[in-house]
Amino acid sequence: MDKLVIRGGRRISGTITASGSKNTSLPIIAATLLTGKGTFFLHRIPDLKDILTFTQLLHHLGAETSFSGNTLKVSTHDVKSIQAPYEVVKKMRASIYVLGPLLARFGHARVSLPGGCAFGPRPIDLHLMAMEKLGATIAIETGFIDATLPDGKLRGAHIDFPISSVGATGNALMAAVLAVGTTTISNAAVEPEIETLCRFLIAMGAIITGTGTTELQIEGKEALNAVEFHNVFDRIEAGTLLAAAAITGGDITINGVEPEQMRAVLKKFSQAGCTIETTANSMTLKSQGKILATDITAKPYPSFPTDMQAQWMALMTQAEGSSHIIDKVYHERFNHVPELNRLGAHIDIRKNQALVHGPQKLSGTTVMSTDLRASASLVIAGLVAEGTTEVLRVYHLDRGYEKIETKLKSLGADISREKYNEF
Ligand code: EPZ
Repeated sequence: MDKLVIRGGRRISGTITASGSKNTSLPIIAATLLTGKGTFFLHRIPDLKDILTFTQLLHHLGAETSFSGNTLKVSTHDVKSIQAPYEVVKKMRASIYVLGPLLARFGHARVSLPGGCAFGPRPIDLHLMAMEKLGATIAIETGFIDATLPDGKLRGAHIDFPISSVGATGNALMAAVLAVGTTTISNAAVEPEIETLCRFLIAMGAIITGTGTTELQIEGKEALNAVEFHNVFDRIEAGTLLAAAAITGGDITINGVEPEQMRAVLKKFSQAGCTIETTANSMTLKSQGKILATDITAKPYPSFPTDMQAQWMALMTQAEGSSHIIDKVYHERFNHVPELNRLGAHIDIRKNQALVHGPQKLSGTTVMSTDLRASASLVIAGLVAEGTTEVLRVYHLDRGYEKIETKLKSLGADISREKYNEF
């Protein structure tokens, strides 16, 4: 198993280009199941464990893929199976994204129930509601979702989501594009991941209006085509690197980004005392070495993203004063708190709210990753902790960050990846 060994105290400074977005790649890869005609060439796909897992799922279904230089080539011409097995779905809940496309193309999908997650329940009721609205019959049996179409086709419908859900909006879109007739989606998620998925589906020949808004309208088509597509940047990786520079009193320029997608995050860094400069496709953060306590409330886009909450908490351990961190998306997403406190932080939790008392001097020790973004927060804390911090179970980090230690090392960090055995 791998761990990251970090010797704190080095400034994170320099220039780097952001990788492609993980959370955009996954629905786009799922959408290749919508047509067996032609070959997809998907560029700027990050080299991550979750991407590998998704391609393994596609292979299980019968698709062919090859990955080189961040370009993923996909042909789903020979897909025969409609079953996403437990072994894969358990590793990556985003496997649920195959539900809509398989149902739309084959009229049948069997997807294992995703099971729990490190930071609380993550239901899929809204995914199933959307499929039923489009005419599917859903049976839950022996741990599987079994979705069928009594009359063989999905039919356009009005889907009104009671809460904003990225995944459920994505599945609804990928089903509706092949449904007979018109589908309208109200309270659709407006995250960049969904906006990009809409652009991808439109490139494939889908007719979608309202892209980027909460009201989407889809005119179902008979068939779609394979395309070449360029993925967008990973806004969470970029925010994580900004936090690494901010906490170490450094300065960083990230190229290949769209600062507009990070307005809420950049505003908070500015409120925390950092200088922010942006161009059309780059952003620069300069930390003056003093961080100001700054409250955040994680909510759906365009608010501060829940996927940056843990990283922000690490930064606030060094802030002058106390800061309140509320997560309105995942109320229990605080597994990073006990580990940050083991590094010397002073963080109290009450319900879905954390109170970070700063500044607290951190001292390196061994800490355990519990989930993707929690492990990112431990790395950020380790960059400023005195002495050596060892972050175990780095496989969590590898799910969502492409060569993170290589990137941080290139920016001045004293960090290395080492093997270890767990008792
Ligand atoms: C996506 O998960 C992301 N994953 C998550 O990022 C991210 O935290 C989340 O969106 C919120 O932004 C991917 O894109 C692969 P949701 P998703 O459906 O789609 C509730 C990371 O770190 N809900 O928008 O599963 C749900 O419990 C990962 O990269 C239902 O109640 O999130 C949550 O409270 C972690 N019923 C809220 O909606 C449903 O059927 C938002 O979840 C679905 C969701």
